[in-house]
Amino acid sequence: MSCDAAALLEAFGLGDEDLAAWQASGRPDAELEDWLMDRVARRPEGSRARAVYGDENVHDFARRAVLEALALGPGDSLLEVGSGGGLLLRDALATGACVAGIDHSVDMVALATERAPGAEVRLGRAESLPFADESFTAIAMSIVFLFLADPVGVLRECLRVTKPGGRLAVFTTAPELRGTPAAPEPFASRGHFYADDALAGLAAEAGWRSAQVRNEAGGQLLQATKL
Ligand SMILES: C[S@@+](CC[C@H](N)C(=O)[O-])C[C@H]1O[C@@H](n2cnc3c(N)ncnc32)[C@H](O)[C@@H]1O
Repeated sequence: MSCDAAALLEAFGLGDEDLAAWQASGRPDAELEDWLMDRVARRPEGSRARAVYGDENVHDFARRAVLEALALGPGDSLLEVGSGGGLLLRDALATGACVAGIDHSVDMVALATERAPGAEVRLGRAESLPFADESFTAIAMSIVFLFLADPVGVLRECLRVTKPGGRLAVFTTAPELRGTPAAPEPFASRGHFYADDALAGLAAEAGWRSAQVRNEAGGQLLQATKL
């Protein structure tokens, strides 16, 4: 078992620390791929995850697309849901906006707090945002949406904490990239992927207005506004 686990972890760039964490988890072998998806992306933990999500290049294409879509300025207050290593938060602060992030990974909250001094970063769940109604003018998500089991519920939560006139920008991976290096197994079969019109439909179902999706080479940018 350990040999198989070590080989799978190694294929994802994980090492001894991660193997020890898997063994300490006490979970059955059948759950290794679920555990791996958490460790690498769905709830990243460990020194390898901190190195990956603190790297300047991580998801830079998504970060740029989201920030360009939101066009933040000093009058804005941004919430990033699933803020990972905090690089989007850092770049958003440079626009003069007030910036907050939430993430359910303790390691990611610590990393984002380092990377984006001046941002308020909280440990929390996208499904139950720890903020009052109408707190933000803008909501961002970058490579998080495919992990959400209840996307409409999360989009409703985002709408709740958004001020009237506020805007949403979500960057996610399209179904055509399943099975490619952008979404390899075991993520391909465990993630949630949507055709462009279905993705816009989820936002509309949650109550967002003017939902539209731009798809460039399998990277989907969902934008919408709150009335
Ligand atoms: C693949 S990483 C992306 C991080 C960052 N947004 C980026 O683009 O580099 C996904 C992040 O979303 C967080 N996340 C996933 N599901 C979440 C949930 N339901 N609630 C809060 N955070 C979540 C993970 O802990 C992780 O930090």
